[in-house]
Formats: sequence, structure tokens, C-alpha cells
Amino acid sequence: MKAIVYTTTGNRDVLQLVERPVPEPGPGEVRVRVVVSGVNHSDWKAREFGHRGGALMYPEVVPHHDGGGVVDAVGEGVDPSRVGQRVWVWEAAYKRPQGTAAEYTVVPSRNAVPLPDNVTFETGASLGLRAVAAHRCLLAGQNAPARLERGSLAGSTVLVAGGAGGVGQAAIQLGAWAGATVLATVSSPEKAKLALAAGAAHTVDYRSDTVVEDIRALAPDGVDLLVEVAATANIDTGIEVLAPNGTIAAYGTEGDAVLAFPTRKTIGRNLRFQFVMVMTMPAADKDRASADVSRAAAEGAIAAGEEVGLPLHRFPLERTGDAQDAVQNGVVGKVLVDVSEPAS
Ligand SMILES: NC(=O)c1ccc[n+]([C@@H]2O[C@H](COP(=O)([O-])OP(=O)(O)OC[C@H]3O[C@@H](n4cnc5c(N)ncnc54)[C@H](OP(=O)(O)O)[C@@H]3O)[C@@H](O)[C@H]2O)c1
Repeated sequence: MKAIVYTTTGNRDVLQLVERPVPEPGPGEVRVRVVVSGVNHSDWKAREFGHRGGALMYPEVVPHHDGGGVVDAVGEGVDPSRVGQRVWVWEAAYKRPQGTAAEYTVVPSRNAVPLPDNVTFETGASLGLRAVAAHRCLLAGQNAPARLERGSLAGSTVLVAGGAGGVGQAAIQLGAWAGATVLATVSSPEKAKLALAAGAAHTVDYRSDTVVEDIRALAPDGVDLLVEVAATANIDTGIEVLAPNGTIAAYGTEGDAVLAFPTRKTIGRNLRFQFVMVMTMPAADKDRASADVSRAAAEGAIAAGEEVGLPLHRFPLERTGDAQDAVQNGVVGKVLVDVSEPAS
């Protein structure tokens, strides 16, 4: 099979297109023929900075966590009827060497989630990390329901910081599906258009001097939940716009930046701060997230494409380096790598 691999950390030049044997699924695993591979920031970060302490955990790594494809073999203990099932794949490269930038990948069965018949492979490859991160953020509030489903956040106001970002777009779509009034911050009219297309009720320019007043004008009682991409940069705004008993759910990593809170305003109003990291979530929460996200996708509530605020940027497998660079350089939308034909 064709695969993109790297054996050392570095820039996109460490990526090589190679031929490798098709991998065999082990116990509890499925093999997926990858149609589309989805690229996230974590993919270029792992390539550039390594897995742990700068080193790679494996002699050779196939990058990318997310994808869409078809199960073509199952390991011991997995229901054989899964063969032929369309799936969306996530966390393929988490503590594993075999990501989705290859014609075949092998993942634990739970990381190949049935893709509803009406959902495209490109949407499937666009779910993964960003949708699961958004799901966890949306359920981080102090009176959050156990599940995210249609209407489960009705009556609440959610502010999504960076609403034209990958996770931001998913948070808007899922939040709106769940019935919340979703507000979003953006930095340009073009990004406002995307956030509105995703389902935001209103947008606010986060670079404006009046950002707090602008958000307060839309949510006079404050926002119940803030889905935050840049917690250190936005902490003052966040605290000013939260309602009493509100929550900031922060998923965006900002390197070694240090986050400081004014305790009078935070303790005094019973605010909650929740850090969110998909990879290290409890397994039960991961399963809940993938089930809820699949349901949202089946209902057409989360999708990919400019018309829903997530422009697509597609690259062939041999241009995976360009695809990773696009993500690293902050392209707006979702970067996908086309790996194989849907039905070959
Ligand atoms: N914790 C997790 O499990 C998890 C999961 C997925 C992603 N992440 C991380 O989350 C970050 C974002 O991922 P992504 O895929 O959404 O990236 P993305 O598609 O590149 O979007 C990032 C967004 O953040 C916005 N932004 C930057 N600074 C901002 C600020 N001060 N206020 C408001 N918005 C701001 C950008 O908008 P402008 O360009 O308009 O500023 C952009 O829309 C990355 O660091 C990624 O590694 C974490």
C-alpha cells in the first residue's frame, strides 16, 4: 500500500511517500481502507516536536488521527459483520504508529465509528478531534446534560471564541443543534460569514476595544458557557462576559503561556474553568462523544463545506506535506488528503 511516513522529527521534508505491506488487525482492532484523511494541528505538531520529550515513540510513523473509509478486515473479538461498514476514524495515531495518511490503517474498533449512510467520507474525515473536542467543551457547563442531543442545551447561551476555526465551527454546529443560542467571536467579516453559516446567531469582533460591551449587548445576563481557543489571551474578556455559575471550557493549547485569574471575580461568581484534551479524556466520555457526534452527523447537524462554515482544502496523498503546511499556516477551514477512491 502507499503510505506517508516519517522516521525523524522535523519540517514537512521528513515526510516520505513509501510502499508498505497492508497491516493486519490485531485483537479488538479493525482495518480501514482509508478514502479521506483529515489533518489537524496535532499532526504537524507531532511531526515537528515528536511524541514525548521531543522523541518519536516508534521507528516509523504514519501521520494523521482522523479519516473516513471502509472497514475491510477485523481482528479477533470484533464482529465480522463490520467488514464493509463505512466509518469515521479518529485518534488513529494516538499512542500508535499507524495513522490515516495511508491506503490502510489499523485502529481499535471503537475508533472506527459507523458513518451514517447519508454522511460523506469528507464529512467523516472532518469530524474526529475537532468534533470530539467541541462535544466535550459543550458538556463542560455546570448544569450540563449527560448527553449532547437535539434540544439538550435549550435555554443556554454559548459563546464560541474563534468561530471560524476548526473546533469553533464544530462547537457552533453542535451547540446550535443542541438548542443553545450560540454567539461567536471572529476577526474579520469573512470569518463572521462562516460562523453565521455554521449556525451562530450573532458574531462579535474579538479584536474590538468594545468586545465585552458587544457580547454583553447580545447576552445581557452573560453567557453560560465559553468554548475557548485562546484562554490566556482572552481571559479578561471571558470573565467579564460569563454569567454567574458560568464555565470556560478551554481546548486551545498556547505553549508555555501562563493563565492567571482574578480570584474575586471568579470565586465570587462561582465560575468554573475546565481544561479539555481529547486524547486524555476518559474512555466512557470518548464513546459518548463519538455516539453523539455520529447522531448529529446523521441528522445533518454537523457537516463540512463552505456552506456550513467549513471550507474544504483537498490534497492528494503525495502532497501531504502541503496539506500539513496549510494547517500549520492557519488556513481557514478543513484540510483533507484524498487517499483512495470511495469504491475501488
Ligand atoms: N484540546 C484538544 O483536544 C484539541 C483538539 C483539537 C484542536 N486543539 C488545538 O486547538 C487549537 C485550534 O484548533 P483548530 O483546529 O480549531 O484550529 P484552526 O482551524 O486553525 O482555528 C483556530 C482559530 O482560533 C482563532 N483565534 C486565534 N486566536 C484567537 C483569539 N485570541 N481569540 C479568538 N479566536 C482566536 C483563529 O481565528 P483568527 O485567525 O481570526 O484569529 C482561528 O479561527 C490548536 O492549537 C489545536 O492544536 C486542541
